[in-house]
Amino acid sequence: MKLLIFCDPGIDDAIALIYALLHPEIEVLGIVCSYGNVDKITAANNAGHILQLAGRMDIPIFNGAEMPVSGELAIFYPEIHGEDGIGPIKVEKNANHLRIRNLSEIFELIEKNNDLVIADLGRSTTLAACFLLNRKAMSKVKELHIMGGAFMVPGNVTPIAEANFHGDPTSANLLLAHGNKVFLTPLNVTQKAIFTYEYAESLRYNTKNKFKEIYIPIIRYYANAYAKMIPGMDGAPFHDLLTIYSIVHPKKMHYLAKKVHVVVEGKTRGKSFADFRNMDSDPDSKHHIALGFDYDHFLKEVFQVLTRQM
Ligand code: RIB
Ligand code: CA
Repeated sequence: MKLLIFCDPGIDDAIALIYALLHPEIEVLGIVCSYGNVDKITAANNAGHILQLAGRMDIPIFNGAEMPVSGELAIFYPEIHGEDGIGPIKVEKNANHLRIRNLSEIFELIEKNNDLVIADLGRSTTLAACFLLNRKAMSKVKELHIMGGAFMVPGNVTPIAEANFHGDPTSANLLLAHGNKVFLTPLNVTQKAIFTYEYAESLRYNTKNKFKEIYIPIIRYYANAYAKMIPGMDGAPFHDLLTIYSIVHPKKMHYLAKKVHVVVEGKTRGKSFADFRNMDSDPDSKHHIALGFDYDHFLKEVFQVLTRQM
C-alpha cells in the first residue's frame, strides 16, 4: 500500500514512522512535517533521523505548516515528547542535508500513484492546505486516515478536546468535508494502544535492527511523562501508531460510520461530535470513527514489525 504521512514527530509519530518503514505491506512515498508536538524544523530533523537509521534517505521530506490557519502561534509539548521531540535522543539540528522539498511537489506524487492513502498524524493544517491548493489532485487520494478527536470520552489537551483537532479545528473540518473517505482513530481507541516499559525492553532485546537503541529511551521517556499526567498509568499510548496499524488491519478495527463535526471556537473548541443517539452506522456517511480494536493482535503484530530487519 502506498502511503504519504503527514506528521509532527513527536514520540508516537516516530514509532509510527518506524512501523510504516519496517512494514512489508507499506511503501512510504513521502513524509510531510509540520508544527505540533514540536516546531516544524525539529519535526523534519526527527523524521530525517528516523530515515537515516532506516537507510531510507531516498524518501522525500516535505515542508509543512508552522501554525494553524487561525494565525495563533503554536504551543509545543516538551513535557510529553522532550525538548527536541523524541525524548532524550539528540538529533543533529541542521536540517540542510535533508533537502526539504516544497509542499506542492506532493501533487506530482499523487498524480503518479493511484490508490494512494494519506495518514495525518498531527494538526490538520498542512493537509487542509493541500486541498486549498489543488483540490483536483487531492480528489485522487483514496482515503484519509486521521489521528484526531474524542467521542463521548475526555480529551487530552482540554477536558473535552483531543490535541490534533484542538490545534486547528477549522482545518480538521475541511478534511472532513473534502476527503473522499475519512477514517478517524480518536482517543477512544488510541488511549488504549499502550506499550508498557516491559514491552519496550522486549522490543530492544529481540531485535538487531537499526532502531534497537532508541526503543527503550524514547518509550521510557514517554511512559514517565504519562505517569506524571495520569498517576498509576503503566506505560503510554501510541496514538499515531494505531492510526498506521489501522490502515493495514481494517478488519481488526471496529468502525461506526457517522457524520463528524468539530467545534471551531469557544470553550469547547476542538470537541468532535457525531449523532450517537443510535449506534447504527449511517450508510450515507463517508466518515468512519474507530471505536474499538483488537489490542492483543495490535501488540503481537506491532512487535513483529518493530523487530524486523530492514
Ligand atoms: O492527541 C494525540 C496526538 O497529538 C498525537 O498525534 C500526538 O503525536 C500529538 O500530535
Ligand atoms: Ca502526532
